[in-house]
Parts: sequence; C-alpha cells; structure tokens
Amino acid sequence: MTEIKILKIGGSVLTDKNRLESARMDEIERIAAEIAKYGSGLILVHGAGSFGHIHAERYNLAERFSAEGVLETHRSVVRLNDLVVESLRMAGSSPVPVHPLSCTLLRDGRIEAMETEPVIEMVNRGIVPVLHGDVAMDRSRGAGIVSGDQLVSHLARSLKPEIVALGTAVDGVIFRGEVLAEVRREDLPKISSELGASAGVDVTGGMRGKLGELLDLADEGVGSLVFNAEKAGIIERVLGGERAGTFVGGKI
Ligand code: IPE
Repeated sequence: MTEIKILKIGGSVLTDKNRLESARMDEIERIAAEIAKYGSGLILVHGAGSFGHIHAERYNLAERFSAEGVLETHRSVVRLNDLVVESLRMAGSSPVPVHPLSCTLLRDGRIEAMETEPVIEMVNRGIVPVLHGDVAMDRSRGAGIVSGDQLVSHLARSLKPEIVALGTAVDGVIFRGEVLAEVRREDLPKISSELGASAGVDVTGGMRGKLGELLDLADEGVGSLVFNAEKAGIIERVLGGERAGTFVGGKI
C-alpha cells in the first residue's frame, strides 16, 4: 500500500471567512500548484470557511434539524470543493471529490461510521481524494457538522499515515505571542485560556476545537503539525517531512 499523507487546509486560508461564499482564488490556485508538485499518496481535506459555517449558523443546524439546512449547507461546501478540485486538476494533479455527507454517519456530533475503503483505493491508484468539512446525518441529532479536523483525525486513526499536517492562517499554536514548537496533552491546562476562536463565523471551534481533535489523535500515537499554509512553499516542505509550526505530540 502507498504511504499516506493527510493534509488539511483550513477554510480561513481558502476563503474570506467574513464574506458569504467568498473564495480566495489566488490562494486556492497557489496551494493547488504546491500540492500538484508534490505528487502521490496524498489525501486532502479542506475546511468550509464562508462556504459552510455561515449556512450552518443561519439554519442553526447544531440545535435544530432542518432538511433544507442540510441541503443548503452541503451545497455550499460542495461549491468550494468544486473550486479546489478544479484548481488541482488545472495544476496537473489527479483529484476526485469525496463528500462526507454521503459516506459518514455521526452520533452526538462524532463520527460513528465512515466508508474509507474507496479513499484508500483512490490513493493506491494515484488519485488525490479531496474531502471537506460537511454536514452529515447524525443518529441522535438528525444532522450535525463534521469538521475537516474531525475527518483528519478519524482518517489518521484508521490509516496511520506517515504525515498529518493542518494548514491554517496562523503560524501554529500560539501562547503569549510565541509559536509553540510542540504541544502535548499535559500542556493544555496552561495554554487553553489563550486558545482563540477563529476569526469570522466558525461553528466547529477554531484553534481550541482543532487542538482537541489533534490531542485525541496524539493519544493514539499519531502526531500532527499545525502550520501556516499562507506561507508560500511551506506545504511542500511539510509534506516532505520538515517540521514547521507546532507539533502536536503523540505518546511515544
Ligand atoms: C466545517 O468545516 C464544515 C461546515 C460548517 C459545513 P471546518 O470546521 O473544517 O471548516 P474550517 O476550516 O473551520 O473553515
């Protein structure tokens, strides 16, 4: 089986989080070019930014089931997914969209089941599966939001990739103005008061939510990197195994 690397690019990098469905095409194209240069073995997950959070909030999906809210939120993130997939294709990569709504089931907001076999087959055939934060059916609540971060942590738990990297619009986990080189679970009480929510509308918890996912993953022995994907060239370096930003450490 091909060595797998999982890369997530946050919605704040790909979109203007404060303006409804406003894609940052220059960033999407730059990132697509960097990924295309990189080659095979990659699973890409992207966030929703202003393509999902605003709809999810408008329909109050976290509190109340709404079939229309499910459709509108999903359609919105699919529009962003289309832009990402198309930019990757134009850059010379071989992407295909994978929509979590169709292959993931939640219970109480957490992934209970996800069909990952097709994703593995895609990777083995040199395809880059492109997943995204999405709305998904939830056995207990009707519907819920599955963040890209939760997808990353779920996929990483079952696929044990070589590299797990999360590109954000900040330099890493920041504490008292400094980027932390490494975070482990025991550091959380000290730093948690400073972990910000995301700029703009965010229904999945900003840096605090992200770190929660990554520390759970770390507890199972899979470390990950939180880095600044707005810096040109960094994606290639991170996928090449370089440490940048903050390493969220696994139990060794
Ligand atoms: C959220 O996905 C999905 C929806 C709101 C539908 P993410 O939580 O992964 O998105 P970003 O990266 O914070 O924008």
